[in-house]
Amino acid sequence: MEKETIIVLDFGGQYTHLISRRIRELGVYSEIKSYDTPLEELEKISGVKGIVFSGGPNSVYEKNSPLVSKEFFSWCKERKIPILGICYGHQLIPYILGGAVKRLERREYGKTVLHVENREDIFQGLEDTEIVWMSHGDQVLELPPGFEKIGHTDNCPIAAYRNSTDKIYGVQFHIEVRHTEKGNKILENFLKIICGSEATWGMKNWIEETTNNIRKKVGASRVIMAVSGGVDSTVAAILLHKAVGKNLHCVFVDNGLLRKNEAQEVINGFKQLNLEHIHFVDAGEKFLKGLKGVTDPEKKRRVIADTFIRIFEKKAKELEKIHGKFEYLGQGTIYPDRVESAATGKTTAKIKSHHNVTLPEGMTLKLVEPLASLYKDEVRKVGKMLGLGDDVIWRQPFPGPSLAVRIIGEVTEEKLSILREADAIIQEEIQKSDFKNSIWQSFAVLLPVKSVGVMGDARTYENVIAVRAVESEDAMTANFAKIDWDILERIASRIVNEVRGINRVVYDITNKPPSTVEWE
Ligand code: XMP
Repeated sequence: MEKETIIVLDFGGQYTHLISRRIRELGVYSEIKSYDTPLEELEKISGVKGIVFSGGPNSVYEKNSPLVSKEFFSWCKERKIPILGICYGHQLIPYILGGAVKRLERREYGKTVLHVENREDIFQGLEDTEIVWMSHGDQVLELPPGFEKIGHTDNCPIAAYRNSTDKIYGVQFHIEVRHTEKGNKILENFLKIICGSEATWGMKNWIEETTNNIRKKVGASRVIMAVSGGVDSTVAAILLHKAVGKNLHCVFVDNGLLRKNEAQEVINGFKQLNLEHIHFVDAGEKFLKGLKGVTDPEKKRRVIADTFIRIFEKKAKELEKIHGKFEYLGQGTIYPDRVESAATGKTTAKIKSHHNVTLPEGMTLKLVEPLASLYKDEVRKVGKMLGLGDDVIWRQPFPGPSLAVRIIGEVTEEKLSILREADAIIQEEIQKSDFKNSIWQSFAVLLPVKSVGVMGDARTYENVIAVRAVESEDAMTANFAKIDWDILERIASRIVNEVRGINRVVYDITNKPPSTVEWE
């Protein structure tokens, strides 16, 4: 069967990536291309079934706004390629083809009621009114010839339109966000009814295509890759191994900042994966030395990232003497890592330096990141299909800087050992509870705060442990988990009784935003 592709043309929208993800979820392969991709380049993409114009922050009528030419529409028409414009894309189409777009008196933002005027093709299966999510400062006031209006809201007279002859559609609202209740249905109608897609693409195809692409890119060169035992780097390693076989060398660095028994568990897990080259480096002392006296969170992250790179480069040199030169560095970077480290766009704010995105300058290795466009749940699906066990697939995310960012203040061997014990109790209790599958992450944070307590008949003056447990879909946002009081009580009393140096336990009840998941 011919490959089917939906191109998402990016006009700088916040949700461009999400549109592409939703299309893939509906079973059609999708690629994001910049709005100014030349037609000759689009021509080379096989099986283009449809094109979606994303949203964007500009106004179509402003100087230097991202636009497409009239020829673009003729090109699509000749090839019978349908177009769907979302938000900015919805305004752009009439603007280019002879309609009118004007600024709104007041921006429209949030949930709105859409009055559906026609329940055919793109709106098949919708009710007369539907909840949709809007975020716009301009609107379409006039449609070009051949177009008809198919939906409105109280503030927006042309909230949706179609040109069923040329198969061009537009929606002012965001169908890719969950707040638009029938958003997926509308997208599915576009894909299946309007583009005539069979929607048979799935993660299996993704694995095959990605493996082929890696093979093409890397050729006969060698790849070196740092693995942590987490789901992202393990899945990336398995994919790279599938593509380049014994030319992949994995390195696991024990930074001495891992959870209780974690290093050994990771090593045992990797031994079972049948990778030809997996190397273990025990570097705990070096990391602790580097962290001596460091209290600032970003500095901790930098020290750890630098120490890691130095150890990794040393190991790479050692291995090069035996196996020959490495040209590529494999990484398990996923899409949200890039967003939070501001690697996806010039205007995105940097929240914290995720270690795998902030690489040293002057690095000669070229990057190969097979998971760079996936979200965590998609990575888990791929992992399952590649035969990884639940213990790896459902392993909680763990930050690259490890327990160092869960010890507020200076990191010492003694604090690490307190934190590990407290953390192990939390894990044990959560694993026994009904919450074990709904929790994204649970962990302990050691606070540099002492408080007074009473144990036996004596006064105590010891440190505080904060318990953090969150629910999340992709870590971009998270809510604190509403764990039963009796579980929290058991955790607190076990920590105070079993971990020396702790006499008080508190529970973190902030969401992300405004907090982040980790404390540093
Ligand atoms: P925050 O604390 O930013 O965390 O809300 C979001 C998710 O990312 C994890 N995290 C990291 N993961 N390298 C990583 O690979 C890092 O430097 C890092 N910092 C935070 C965190 O555990 C949560 O799942």
